[in-house]
Amino acid sequence: MSQEILNVEDVSKTFQVKAGEVKAVDQVSFTADMGAVTTIVGPSGSGKTTLLYVVGSLEKPESGSIEVSGRDILGASADLVRYRRENVGFVFQFFNLIPTLTALENVMLPMDLAGASQEKQHQRATELLEQVGIEGRLLKARTNKISGGESQRVAIARALANDPDIILADEPTGNLDTATGQMVIDILSGLAHDADKCVLMVTHDESILDVSDKAFHMSDGKLSEIPAGNGSNS
Ligand SMILES: Nc1ncnc2c1ncn2[C@@H]1O[C@H](COP(=O)(O)OP(=O)(O)OP(=O)(O)O)[C@@H](O)[C@H]1O
Ligand SMILES: [Mg+2]
Repeated sequence: MSQEILNVEDVSKTFQVKAGEVKAVDQVSFTADMGAVTTIVGPSGSGKTTLLYVVGSLEKPESGSIEVSGRDILGASADLVRYRRENVGFVFQFFNLIPTLTALENVMLPMDLAGASQEKQHQRATELLEQVGIEGRLLKARTNKISGGESQRVAIARALANDPDIILADEPTGNLDTATGQMVIDILSGLAHDADKCVLMVTHDESILDVSDKAFHMSDGKLSEIPAGNGSNS
């Protein structure tokens, strides 16, 4: 049982650089489902991060369409700030936490921006952090004083703060050792398979294919479908 949430059609993103232009994303089309892990692998510079940023509306493509739950997010009337806040959560390779804030405060921040009460923020942040195994003294630890694996778990809790349907993860295990990386993969896989999120990951780490329901290879801005470990819905 899978329900499509994301429909990307014919999307291209070109960067102007001194030497000319780089077609980072070249007429890419794909769909992703709720309750599934969709993974994009491919070499450095192939356009993976750019594609993820386009889907998360951090970059604007010059052509193509992106629908989320049937709603066009690139249309003139789309509210991109609201889309980002309510529909997507980002997990980055370098965590991108605010180092001077505590774990709890980092997770509360997106809820604060969305206008939640202080009490609600505190309660939900504590729950989300507990779900990823961050408890006790770690809640009040500044995030420049915690390990990489702990940081990535805080970042996942932060991505979930406003309960988005889509989690976008860019090399989520890129800075973690194998065991810690596996823990992060298990959490992300659980978000898809148990909490029914749409998890879209880009990575160099081909072991992530094992927990993926759908997978693509990206090369020179182009996407092609490849077999995925779970192989359930392609
Ligand atoms: N802001 C930018 N300005 C100009 N060129 C860019 C910009 N961002 C990315 N590029 C170029 O677009 C191409 C795709 O980059 P992208 O970061 O999407 O690749 P990637 O697959 O994520 O690589 P990696 O695996 O190393 O993270 C590269 O040639 C890159 O140099
Ligand atoms: Mg990248």
